[in-house]
Amino acid sequence: MTETHAPSYNYTVVRRFAVMTVIWGIVGMAVGVLIAAQLLWPELNFDIPWLTYSRLRPLHTNAVIFAFGGCALMCTSLYVVQRTCQAPLFSNFLAGFVFWGWQLVIVLAAISLPLGFTSGKEYAELEWPIDILITLVWVAYAIVFFGTIMKRKSPHIYVANWFYGAFILTVAILHLVNSAAIPLSFTKSYSMYAGAVDAMIQWWYGHNAVGFFLTAGFLGMMYYYVPKQAGRPVYSYRLSIVHFWALVSIYMWAGPHHLHFTALPDWAQSLGMIMSIILLAPSWGGMINGIMTLSGAWHKLRTDPILKFLIVSLSFYGMSTFEGPMMSIKTVNALSHYTEWTIGHVHSGALGWVAFISIGAMYYMLPRMFGQKEMYSVKLINWHFWVATVGVVLYIAAMWIAGVMEGLMWRAFNDDGTLTYSFVQSLEAKYPYYAIRLVGGALFLSGMFIMAYNMLKTIYAPKPSSADQTQPAVA
Ligand code: HEM
Ligand code: HEM
Repeated sequence: MTETHAPSYNYTVVRRFAVMTVIWGIVGMAVGVLIAAQLLWPELNFDIPWLTYSRLRPLHTNAVIFAFGGCALMCTSLYVVQRTCQAPLFSNFLAGFVFWGWQLVIVLAAISLPLGFTSGKEYAELEWPIDILITLVWVAYAIVFFGTIMKRKSPHIYVANWFYGAFILTVAILHLVNSAAIPLSFTKSYSMYAGAVDAMIQWWYGHNAVGFFLTAGFLGMMYYYVPKQAGRPVYSYRLSIVHFWALVSIYMWAGPHHLHFTALPDWAQSLGMIMSIILLAPSWGGMINGIMTLSGAWHKLRTDPILKFLIVSLSFYGMSTFEGPMMSIKTVNALSHYTEWTIGHVHSGALGWVAFISIGAMYYMLPRMFGQKEMYSVKLINWHFWVATVGVVLYIAAMWIAGVMEGLMWRAFNDDGTLTYSFVQSLEAKYPYYAIRLVGGALFLSGMFIMAYNMLKTIYAPKPSSADQTQPAVA
């Protein structure tokens, strides 16, 4: 796979998304740190309704998933599709619309969620006018992405594009079905669905948001940036095809594991559990394919902090996709559900996998997008790596211990059948772990500030003469 220099590639949109990834990462994680602190010191809401935990929590999830994660996905997909198809974007106008439209969605979310406007559906809280804007932006995104694939000069479609394509198509369907609502006013609507059906649709959406937004798109990233940074071809192209089809066909069925022991029919819960256990196989197939890409280049891990981010992200991916299937087993879920264990699982995926791979990909992109040979300081990337690693380990270890502890406290009985612990006792027992999580989160956030500083220094550093410039690496 070689590439020629093609000056007509649209890097403007890629550059903008790269910068916004770092900025929204800081914003979303700062809100995460604030709500982590509120769980320790509730008075940090200052009695201002906009700053209450209930309003800031969805702001955090929307900001990190859709603003930080979304910008990283749009940035890398629009870069990768051009490079691997050897074709410029299908439409520069639509690409610009995707960028500005998505930023508008994010700003509207940042205003409407603290004001308390919400549809009440997790990860789909935004009200219907914003949902319509999302649909328009997403259709434009799909046209730009698939249009570029149609115009490709390379004979085949590189596997990263398959994953990005599945992410774009599936998220479109999920959004349209789950957001169907009856508007009551400009700022309030009610779901089209009711009762157990509403719950099932919501978690079909919710789980596939994990599967396609937080996983498939980022696997697309893995299939491009890991081989690039390692300077090695993908370990097994055949495995990547099996990985793709197995993953996309199984994920769709796993949603009911979010609804164990609810009004959902028992058979549906069991089906969700079985599909979730099967999901371990394609998930690990993908992880192994990514990690083994480093065969023959393991030594690079010692000196290349970007590769460290990418490979450690895959270890976290492996860990969270082992833990998820275990948590979907009903007897295990009976312990983990409603506890901090779930929060630990979420962040081993969200920080360890999603944020790490995005950060690695951004460090790869930034110098290339701003005409530099490399980032301003490789030492600072190393610092970022270690601060973030210690941060995520503190976060998830604290939540795992707190989760299992509170789960066990809730189910402890005395000989006479009364509960051993009150709910408040279980809450009190969690406080030290909340403090550890806060420290971990703050460390992770400080890593993002290091990144922002490094990014600014890279952008404003004097440009090397064109003779010195590295060609953006080959696809
Ligand atoms: C500095 C980093 C972060 C901190 C301190 C942080 C903190 C938090 C806190 C305190 C909660 C609420 C937990 C609860 O209600 O018990 C939360 C929820 C959540 N966070 Fe983060 N977070 C961070 C980064 C991220 C990132 C990067 C992502 C995604 C890419 C993410 C995704 C989520 C999700 C999906 C939830 C909801 C989990 C659920 O409902 O089970 N977080 N976070
Ligand atoms: C094979 C893969 C996976 C399986 C089978 C799985 C399974 C599960 C299960 C059983 C739960 C707990 C549901 C509950 O008790 O309410 C859960 C929660 C969650 N998982 Fe995973 N998981 C997987 C991978 C991941 C990854 C890679 C991420 C993030 C990138 C992730 C993000 C989440 C989130 C955000 C929640 C919380 C949802 C909520 O209640 O708000 N999962 N997952």
